[in-house]
Parts: sequence; structure tokens; C-alpha cells
Amino acid sequence: MHILRRLLSAVSALNTAWMVVAPAPAAASPAVNYVNSLIQQRADPHISKHDGWYYFTATVPEYDRIILRRAQTIQGLASASETTIWRRKASGYGSGQVWAPELHFIDGKWYIYVALGVANAWNIRTFVFEGTGSNPLTATWLEKGRIKTNWDTFTLDASTFVANGIQYLIWAQGIPDRPDENSSIMIAPLENPWTIRGRAVAISHPTLSWERIGYKVNEGPYVIQRNGKIFLTYSASATDYNYCMGLLTASAGSDLMNPASWSKSQTPIFTSNAKTNQWGPGHNSFVESEDGQSDIMVYHDRGYQHITGDPLNDPNRQTRVQKLYWKDDGTPDFGIPVPEGNTPIRLRSAADGGGYVRYYTGSANPTGTPALADTQFRIASPGLAGGSTISLESTSDPGMFLRRVDGARVQFVKNTTLTTTGMKVSASFNRLPGLTDGEGVTLELSDAKGQYLGLEASGRLVVTPLNGQGAQLKQATFFLE
Ligand SMILES: *[C@@H]1O[C@H](CO)[C@@H](O)[C@H](O)[C@H]1NC(C)=O
Ligand SMILES: *[C@@H]1O[C@H](CO)[C@@H](O)[C@H](O)[C@H]1NC(C)=O
Repeated sequence: MHILRRLLSAVSALNTAWMVVAPAPAAASPAVNYVNSLIQQRADPHISKHDGWYYFTATVPEYDRIILRRAQTIQGLASASETTIWRRKASGYGSGQVWAPELHFIDGKWYIYVALGVANAWNIRTFVFEGTGSNPLTATWLEKGRIKTNWDTFTLDASTFVANGIQYLIWAQGIPDRPDENSSIMIAPLENPWTIRGRAVAISHPTLSWERIGYKVNEGPYVIQRNGKIFLTYSASATDYNYCMGLLTASAGSDLMNPASWSKSQTPIFTSNAKTNQWGPGHNSFVESEDGQSDIMVYHDRGYQHITGDPLNDPNRQTRVQKLYWKDDGTPDFGIPVPEGNTPIRLRSAADGGGYVRYYTGSANPTGTPALADTQFRIASPGLAGGSTISLESTSDPGMFLRRVDGARVQFVKNTTLTTTGMKVSASFNRLPGLTDGEGVTLELSDAKGQYLGLEASGRLVVTPLNGQGAQLKQATFFLE
């Protein structure tokens, strides 16, 4: 018994926290800070930025109107008042479902693309509204009518982007000779904002197993262009917890009307996460951060897994935002739907060789590149010790906090085990300006002045008193990304 206990404590004594010693990507950008969920009961969210304003539109649970909000920050959209610019009509298209509006500014005018249905029928098409005036919330809106496509079939989720000087429309549509599937992703160039030029082509069908759960769906396409590539995200399967996101990629210079120009990720790139309790994430858009340096992904999901009845009758799809990270190879890293509360950050060491703090509870120095979420942490403020302290909580394993165990040793431990004041203090830090770079931060143990979280040359994360040498000061300085 004694020996067993000693062995166990020897093993747990080895558990420690590690850095990933790997160069940070060249395109790293400063952290952003938003509070999730941004907006309750708003699905298919679209946030765009124009002339210093952020605009928000989304599907409302009543499916009966088009709403707009605007604010000077993304967070400001959460409390901005909402204007209804259009309401359900008495008959015809527009008397039923109102889904997934997007607001775009094209050639000096505002356009809203929206899917409008017929009352009591599963029959929807894409319509366009044109707004004249500098502020779309007070603009005069004119219905430009329905977008004519190859077939008169189920059509929804239109979006638009410009590549190589051509304005394209992308959307989801039921294809007559694929009656077994609900919708595919379509693309066509636009002659004007309400008319496509020539025949559209399909660039993705719901053919993979994860695109066919509940319903066989590809929908909600949206484009982000970076690093010589066009990345097109879309959503797949039924709108319950199986809903998830896929990715198509094309080279910027390729012929986007040739389906062969697009390659499809064989696995979903953004899915439900039980640890963070986020379910059915999808129907996203992208917008840039206030400082213009980060890409923000906007999407909806639910805060619970199981729903009763038709998922469309459950109103609680919530609008969420989180930073989109980029890998060294120039492709996007979507990570996981992050937990509720403040959006997480990454901590990159200022030490030569850099690297990100990594969540790890094993004993040996881990090998391999960690998943993005293992290098993301929520800054709990106030920290577990209260006051002006902060604590660091794992994003991939919420409830696990960084704590000094003894001496130099730090570990990630479950918050429920931190029962005494002393334990809470040991998991709390004072946030100071970076010792070697004021743009960064230094984390001082809340109960031990002059003892800082730092990086050892081995890649181990430690608490260390510094002797004032440059290299050591750098090891205790971190950039938040
Ligand atoms: C998918 O197609 C089936 C069969 O036509 C239909 O019952 C269902 O409502 C459709 N679902 C969606 C999300 O389009
Ligand atoms: C521990 O953390 C989890 C996840 O953040 C949180 O839901 C829970 O309330 C926390 N419990 C305590 C005792 O702090």
C-alpha cells in the first residue's frame, strides 16, 4: 500500500506543463476578446464590416422577417438594437420561411440575399433586395425578385464574393437528377447583383457519410480568400448535433466554374464538441477583427445536444464568434467550438525558438504538433483567487487550470480539486506588461512577488524567480495571440 502510494505520487509528481517549441507562423496576429454566445436565438449569422461599422443579420426563430443590427465593434452587436427591414407577406414566396439573409455592399448599393418560402409548403427560393442609402438600417429597400437558376428547385443560402475581378454567387440547391439528396453547393458569376450569367455548376454534393446524417445536405457556403487560395466553407447534414462544416479549396488563379478546380476535405473541419458543450456548429461567415489583423469566424450552434421534434422548431441556435487561426502551410485551422465566455487566447513565448503553451497532463515531454485547442486558454478574470488576479483555463478540457504545485513545478489541475484559498492562489496570477516587451504579458504568481511563469530551455513550463538576465526575462514574456 505504501509502495503503491509512493509510486503513484512519483508518477503524478512528473506530470507537468509543457510548451510547444516550434516557430510561430509568420502571420500570427494579436489576440481578440469577445464574449460567447454573442447573440441568443439567431441562426445562420452573417456579420460584415463596411466603413467602420459591423452589420449583423441572421435567421430569427419565427422565420418571419429580416433583421439588421449595426455597431462599431463585433461585441457591440450583442446589445445593438435590432431593426426589421422586411416582414413576411400574405401570399406567394415570402409568405413562408425566411432564412439566412446576408447583407452585401456591391457597386455603391446594399443587397440582401435571402431564402423565401411559400406558406405551409417546403418550397423556397433565393430573393434579392436592393437598399439605397448609406445606412442599410434606414435605407429604402426594393425587392429585385427571385434569382433565376438552372432549375426551379429548392434554393437557399446565397452568398457572394469577388475573385479575379469577377463577382460570384454561391448557394445551395436541390438538383433534379439527384432526387435522393437535399442540396448541393452551386456557383455562377453574376451579371448584376440579382442575375447570374450563364449556367451555374455544382461544386460539391453531399456524398460523404458525415454530409448525409438525418438529411443529405450541403448548404450555407461562404468564402474566405488568403494565401493564394479560395477557401469555401459549407455546412452538412441535418441541423441537429450532427450539423458540421466542410471545406472546399481552389487556387486563386483557377477557373472557379470548373468543378475540378475545387478539392474537398474528406473529413469535416468543424464539429460538435462534448467537452465544450457546443452542438451542431455551422452556417458560418467570416469577418475581420476591429484591428484588421485577425479573421473572425461567425457561426451558430446549440448549448445542448438533444432536442425533441424537428430541429427547425428548436429556437436556441445561438450566434457565436471566435478567431480563425492559420497554419504554417497557409491553410485555416478552425479548431473546436470554444466554450462559453471570453474567447480564448494562445500564449507564445518571447524566448528564442518561441512556441505556444500547451495543455498536457502526461509526464514525458509530448511529441508531435498539438491540436489548436490544446494551445488555447481562457483568461478567467477575476482569477480563482479573485481581485485583480487571472487564471488560465484549458479550452480543449474546460475546468482544467494551470497551477504551481510546488517549487518550480506547474501542472494543469481540475478546478474542483482547488478547494482551499491556498490552492486557488496557486492557480492565480498577476498580469503584468511583458518584461522584455510591453506588447506581451508576464504572469507573476499571485502569492509570490517576483516569481514568474517561464519557459525552460527543455520546453518545460515552470515558475521561476528571475535573476534579471535577458534570456530569462524573455522566457517569462508571452505574446497573446
Ligand atoms: C430533405 O429532403 C427530405 C425528402 O425530400 C425532406 O423531407 C426534408 O425536409 C429535407 N430536409 C432539408 C433540411 O432540406
Ligand atoms: C470548473 O470549471 C467549469 C468549466 O469552466 C465550470 O463550469 C465550473 O463551474 C467550475 N467549477 C468550480 C467549482 O469552479
